[in-house]
Amino acid sequence: MDSFFITGTDTGVGKTVLSLVLMQYLYHCGANPVYIKPAQTGCRDPYDKDSDAKFIYDHVKELQGKDCAPSVICCFREPKAPYFAARNEGKEINPHELLQEIYKRGKGHSHMIIEGAGGLFVPLTATMLMVDLIGETKAVPVIAGRTALGTINHVLMAVETLRHRHLEPQGIVLIDSQNPPTDTAMIRENQEAIEAFSRLPVAGVIPSIVDFTKSLDFLFPICKRLLEKH
Ligand SMILES: Nc1ncnc2c1ncn2[C@@H]1O[C@H](COP(=O)(O)OP(=O)(O)O)[C@@H](O)[C@H]1O
Ligand SMILES: [Mg+2]
Repeated sequence: MDSFFITGTDTGVGKTVLSLVLMQYLYHCGANPVYIKPAQTGCRDPYDKDSDAKFIYDHVKELQGKDCAPSVICCFREPKAPYFAARNEGKEINPHELLQEIYKRGKGHSHMIIEGAGGLFVPLTATMLMVDLIGETKAVPVIAGRTALGTINHVLMAVETLRHRHLEPQGIVLIDSQNPPTDTAMIRENQEAIEAFSRLPVAGVIPSIVDFTKSLDFLFPICKRLLEKH
């Protein structure tokens, strides 16, 4: 099985949107992927309107009408780092159990698309960060970053953090979630600097999307480039 861990330079950068496009692409290729959200925060339950899994299941035709709860391993009410959101409910994430659940839920699938919460240095427990979980899962990291000003710094720091732990990223995707969209010359410059300094491909730029119910297949070439072995 191929497993990818969709991490990002921050919360709200477009990890879920990238996960959505990857899930659509993998189904389109005839694969049997599974989306996994190990720790969801800011939600009452996996069906909450702010649940990433719910967004994915609502917008992938092969998943519409299916129960998204199995994609979410733990879910906490407060919109905070998982460690604090859990602690404020008197709970604690058990990293061993979390890992077992990830593997269990991936069984029988061709690909796992695992989405982190926030960025790499987000605490899952008092002693474990998201980046530690990436290492434990053995999934290949994919970095989602903004297109906007500041992204060169944030993406390169994410790359260095992963490499420091011998986790070589598969690639980078930049996402334009803002209105007005990022200036195209700036996007080109950001992409140029990121590729030059990271020696990693920026597989593409996801432009601002107005309607997620419309076909996203124009973004499949980005997925193809990203998932290509290199
Ligand atoms: N390309 C895009 N076009 C329009 N809106 C976007 C785009 N990417 C992300 N968004 C919106 O920005 C917000 C954050 O994106 P999301 O994928 O949930 O980020 P993350 O998973 O990193 O927290 C969401 O409301 C999402 O719908
Ligand atoms: Mg998300």
